[in-house]
Amino acid sequence: MAEEKPNHRVRPLIAADEIARRVDELAAQIDRDYAASESLVVIGVLKGSVFFFTDLVRRLSIPVRIDFFQTSSYGTGTTAGEVRIKRDIDLSVRGRDVLLVEDIVDTGWTLKTILDLFRFRGAASVKLCALLDKHEAREVEVPIAYCGFRIGKDFVVGYGLDYDERHRNLPYVGVVEFTEDEA
Ligand code: IMP
Repeated sequence: MAEEKPNHRVRPLIAADEIARRVDELAAQIDRDYAASESLVVIGVLKGSVFFFTDLVRRLSIPVRIDFFQTSSYGTGTTAGEVRIKRDIDLSVRGRDVLLVEDIVDTGWTLKTILDLFRFRGAASVKLCALLDKHEAREVEVPIAYCGFRIGKDFVVGYGLDYDERHRNLPYVGVVEFTEDEA
């Protein structure tokens, strides 16, 4: 099948080495904070957090269990009632410390829903680690215990994040800029 002509380009925003440095710092902080925990479950929210998750978890020296959770993909926008579970975790979180790893917090609805769900299931603690925080777009407050970078409202791709399933494999994070033919 022929590829359509791209109607956008990607302007680099956060370089790969900058991401790597920040992931190192976050891992060191998580290692310190959970040093006394014997039950940490690190849960990656698919698919966007995949590279962030694997880079982060490999830098941890504390013992962890890992699992994955998937919600409905980004469509016409997220609202409270729209968050749907596509894939649930296999492990039980009852009595365990949970660290959720997400690519980006936008309106906050997805994360609020997941955090509430794991609390409801009896996790001993639930904290959030997000690579990117689109703070200005927030509709519902979610505390981000470990945040990689605060960014503006622009739509970003790369390092796991997609635009219509494209650009996930870029090693950096970039802003999608639509070209004139699109306008
Ligand atoms: P929220 O529920 O509005 O916070 O949306 C979170 C989800 O929307 C993220 O996990 C992403 O999948 C998606 N999303 C939000 N902003 C962007 C973006 O700029 N690029 C790619 N995906 C995004």
